[in-house]
Amino acid sequence: MVDSVYRTRSLGVAAVGLPDQYADGKAAKVWQMYIGDTRSRTEEYKSWVLSLLRQHNCQRVLDVACGTGVDSIMLVEEGFNMVSVDASDKMLKYALKARWERRKEPAFDQWVIEEANWLTLPQDVQKPGSGFDAVICLGNSFAHLPDFKGDQSDQKLALQNIASMVKPACPTHGNGSPGFGIP
Ligand SMILES: C[S@@+](CC[C@H](N)C(=O)[O-])C[C@H]1O[C@@H](n2cnc3c(N)ncnc32)[C@H](O)[C@@H]1O
Repeated sequence: MVDSVYRTRSLGVAAVGLPDQYADGKAAKVWQMYIGDTRSRTEEYKSWVLSLLRQHNCQRVLDVACGTGVDSIMLVEEGFNMVSVDASDKMLKYALKARWERRKEPAFDQWVIEEANWLTLPQDVQKPGSGFDAVICLGNSFAHLPDFKGDQSDQKLALQNIASMVKPACPTHGNGSPGFGIP
């Protein structure tokens, strides 16, 4: 598929009309090499993410662009209850492999990994009760959403869908939704 901005090599379609930019599996294959040593990458922001989540008493966290699972693994290791989703099955394959290899650790056995797209998130992801305590979208992921219509309506829909996954803010905190991310 070709547009004025980028070219995808495969016609893999993750949601109606939306190409999976990772569908050829090439980026997924070299992702680990591309991001470098996982621990030294996550060390850069781990304490910030953990303190933010703990400050808001977050336990159930949805990672909406988990890719190969880098940040989700960090949070599973830290005891968070993770649901990790991504539009690319090629990227998810590596997260699923990591989960399988560590399945004997109870935290990894409970780690949920699903295919989901921001544009169809409420249909793709089962929300626990009134929602997740937090949603993360890390690693320059949100920029992957193309603005094919030129009016950012898909960006608005994606953000609405992501926000709908988060539990309504606790009135005692009065500080809005705990969902956050580095899009
Ligand atoms: C740059 S990668 C980052 C992956 C991971 N967060 C990391 O930092 O290693 C962007 C990810 O966003 C996912 N993605 C892009 N558009 C998406 C969409 N509409 N819905 C869900 N995931 C999407 C891609 O499949 C890819 O795995």
